[in-house]
Amino acid sequence: MSKFTVLNHPLIQHKLTLIRDKETGTQEFRGIVNEIAELMVYEMTRDLPLKDTKVQTPMGETVQKELAGKKLAVIPILRAGLGMVDGVLRLIPAAKVGHIGMYRDEKTLKPHEYFVKLPSDIDQRELFIVDPMLATGGSANMAIDALKKRGARHMRLVVLVAAPEGVRKVQAAHPDVDIYAAALDEKINENGYIFPGLGDAGDRLFGTK
Ligand code: PRP
Ligand code: URA
Repeated sequence: MSKFTVLNHPLIQHKLTLIRDKETGTQEFRGIVNEIAELMVYEMTRDLPLKDTKVQTPMGETVQKELAGKKLAVIPILRAGLGMVDGVLRLIPAAKVGHIGMYRDEKTLKPHEYFVKLPSDIDQRELFIVDPMLATGGSANMAIDALKKRGARHMRLVVLVAAPEGVRKVQAAHPDVDIYAAALDEKINENGYIFPGLGDAGDRLFGTK
C-alpha cells in the first residue's frame, strides 16, 4: 500500500483557505496555487539523497553536499495541473516537464486522455505528477497508467485537495505511487465535485465558465 501524506504546514493551510473562498479571483487563485505547490515540494523533498562534492570557495577547498538521486520531471495533468508547474520549477528549475491531457466527462465522470508528451528519458527520472484535484481518482489513475505504459517507474502524485474515494482508488490501482495532498476533504458530492473543495480548479485557474 502506498503512503498518503497530508502536508499541513500552517502556510499551506492558510493559503488553501484563501483559494477555497469563492470570492478569490483568477489572478490571486493562480498565484496561490503555485505558492502551495512550491511549499508542498519543499516539504516533500526533505528525503532527497545527497552526496559529497568538492567545492572551491573564495577561501579554499571544502567538501559539501549536492543532490545525488534521480533527476526529476514534473508532469502536470492538463489543464489544471499546469497551475502548479511554475511553483515546482521555482524550487527545481532544472526539472523537465511532461504533459498529460485529460478531461473528465461531466456526466459519467470518466476521464479521457487527449494528449501525452513526455521527456524521452522518463524511465530514468523521478516524476512529480501534479493536479490540484483528486476526486474519483479516475484521471490520476489513467495518467499513471499512461506514464507506466511509456516506461516511467518512479513517481509521486501531488494534489492540493483529495477526496477519500480518490485516495483509495489510486492506492488500490498503484500501490507503488505515494500521494501527497494539502488537504483531505470530506467527500465527493452528487455532481462529482469534492466537498467542501474549491470548485472547478481548471475554470478558476484559467477564468473559464
Ligand atoms: C479535474 C481535475 C482532475 C480531475 C479530478 O480536471 O483537475 O484532473 O478533474 O477528477 P477525478 O479524480 O474524478 O478524475 P477536469 O477533467 O475538470 O479538466 P481540466 O483540468 O481541463 O479542467
Ligand atoms: N475537478 C475539479 O476541478 N474539482 C472538483 O471538485 C472535482 C474535480
